[in-house]
Amino acid sequence: MRSLSPLLPLLLLGVHLIPTTPVRDEKSPGKSRKRVNPVPHTEPAEPDPIYEAYAYCNIPNRTEQGWEGHCPADYKLLSVHVMIRHGDRYPLYAIPKTRRPAIDCMLVPDRKPTHPQLAAFITHMSRGGRGRWDTALASLPRVPNHSVCEMGELTQTGVVQHLRNGQLLRNTYIKRHKLLPPDWSGQQLLVESTGKSRTLQSGLALLYGLLPDFDWAKLSVRHQWSTLFCDSSCDCPARNQYLEEEQKRQYQLRVADAQLDRTYAAMARTVGVPPRQLRAANPVDSLLCHLCHNLSFPCTPQGCLSAGQFGIIRRQQLEDERDRRRRGLYRRYALLAAHPFLNRTVARMLRVAEGRRDGGLFALSSAHDVTVAPLLSALGLAGARFPRFAARVVFELWRSPPPPRGAKDKDVDHDRDRKRLFVRVLYDGEDVTFQTAFCRDHDRHSQPLCPFNNFLSFVRKDMFSVLNATSYHEACHRRPV
Ligand SMILES: *[C@@H]1O[C@H](CO)[C@@H](O)[C@H](O)[C@H]1NC(C)=O
Ligand SMILES: *[C@@H]1O[C@H](CO)[C@@H](O)[C@H](O)[C@H]1NC(C)=O
Ligand SMILES: *[C@@H]1O[C@H](CO)[C@@H](O)[C@H](O)[C@H]1NC(C)=O
Ligand SMILES: *[C@@H]1O[C@H](CO)[C@@H](O)[C@H](O)[C@H]1NC(C)=O
Ligand SMILES: *[C@@H]1O[C@H](CO)[C@@H](O)[C@H](O)[C@H]1NC(C)=O
Repeated sequence: MRSLSPLLPLLLLGVHLIPTTPVRDEKSPGKSRKRVNPVPHTEPAEPDPIYEAYAYCNIPNRTEQGWEGHCPADYKLLSVHVMIRHGDRYPLYAIPKTRRPAIDCMLVPDRKPTHPQLAAFITHMSRGGRGRWDTALASLPRVPNHSVCEMGELTQTGVVQHLRNGQLLRNTYIKRHKLLPPDWSGQQLLVESTGKSRTLQSGLALLYGLLPDFDWAKLSVRHQWSTLFCDSSCDCPARNQYLEEEQKRQYQLRVADAQLDRTYAAMARTVGVPPRQLRAANPVDSLLCHLCHNLSFPCTPQGCLSAGQFGIIRRQQLEDERDRRRRGLYRRYALLAAHPFLNRTVARMLRVAEGRRDGGLFALSSAHDVTVAPLLSALGLAGARFPRFAARVVFELWRSPPPPRGAKDKDVDHDRDRKRLFVRVLYDGEDVTFQTAFCRDHDRHSQPLCPFNNFLSFVRKDMFSVLNATSYHEACHRRPV
């Protein structure tokens, strides 16, 4: 995270904080495909920053449904790959000379927000010593456990968000599609996390919602040292160059904004530190936490930080987002940042489709906003809202029913087999498959699902065309275009 921190102000509050995840009728999946673009191309005249920020908080106070697991009858679900952002957390930065938000990070089942499985989850986590952990993860606490939250610690809200995600996925994948057999093996369930306690704990909460009282002895959790989940393919000089240019662009836009300048100066006066120090403390992160936890903004004897000031920082972020899209540097960064994860996902899907046991039927990657945001951008989902707390991106692999007898040779034909494979992509429960770069132009009248081959060809080659290259290696090791 450290190396990426200059980008954090941009990423902490993205533009498209759509206020609600629509609750839809489970019985009519066909409608989802008509919802082509959930984000209007024009900004509302006066976006209400407070209202939008609540969507980012993702306060677990209503029933949520998702379109995960919806497919024509007779299609078989082969595997599911989920990337999540950790749940609600304590700020990463403190506003100087003010009281930090008073939030208790102990898990207390009879305190709101809560979940029917919270007590059982706490008990189950206390037995986690029986799981197999990569070294960097073994010593992390498996539940948040401080009566005054530490910086960046997952809160009870964050745990509840992911218990709910897990339960939602359980209803469709485990109960309806029987994706994992009751005696699932360690090769069928793949779990990975960065080395932060909030990602590990978020992943475990989702897993518990998915498979209550899972057998610890079968679980192994892998450590991803990079927030990009790039495994052994992290070396990519061009990616770093695009990121640097993107940060330069962001910086120049910010320093040119006189209203933002005045706002930081006023906030700095209230707090009693130099403006530079106040800016460096990234106050919007802490203000968001206040908002998500229904706490009033901090005050000093000189006055209080205000919603109006919060709104101005937010307004600048909206402009930044538009500028970022126009300039395209971030997308170039994102394509290279997300490729290794996508490449691994595609490879696992192929292994499962070939009937091998080591592909993983359910794979969970527990990550950060700086992981999920580039993934969305790389997929071409420019209109997607910035990843809220406990956001989820889901890839599903499906196989259509076999062709009628007679039309089929006796030999195994991988090419023909692949033509029966399809992918779906979902973001926070919404089917975004036909907004992705690889299926946007797909003719849905001839074939209502997105062919896996489109996804495969995108990840292996097509995604690099923006970078005037045909492979990851070539794109990483040439001078940026
Ligand atoms: C959930 O909380 C948000 C933010 O406080 C609020 O705007 C919304 O009305 C609440 N929803 C329900 C169903 O209580
Ligand atoms: C939480 O911390 C307390 C004291 O710090 C300890 O007694 C308790 O066992 C811990 N619980 C868990 C689940 O780690
Ligand atoms: C938020 O706090 C105010 C008082 O500070 C209280 O009246 C209100 O009920 C709280 N809202 C929620 C959703 O807890
Ligand atoms: C992509 O996946 C293929 C097949 O698994 C592998 O051979 C290749 O090295 C991977 N490329 C990168 C850049 O990770
Ligand atoms: C794209 O790459 C080709 C050869 O790899 C090169 O000749 C061409 O100038 C490049 N185009 C741009 C816009 O960089």
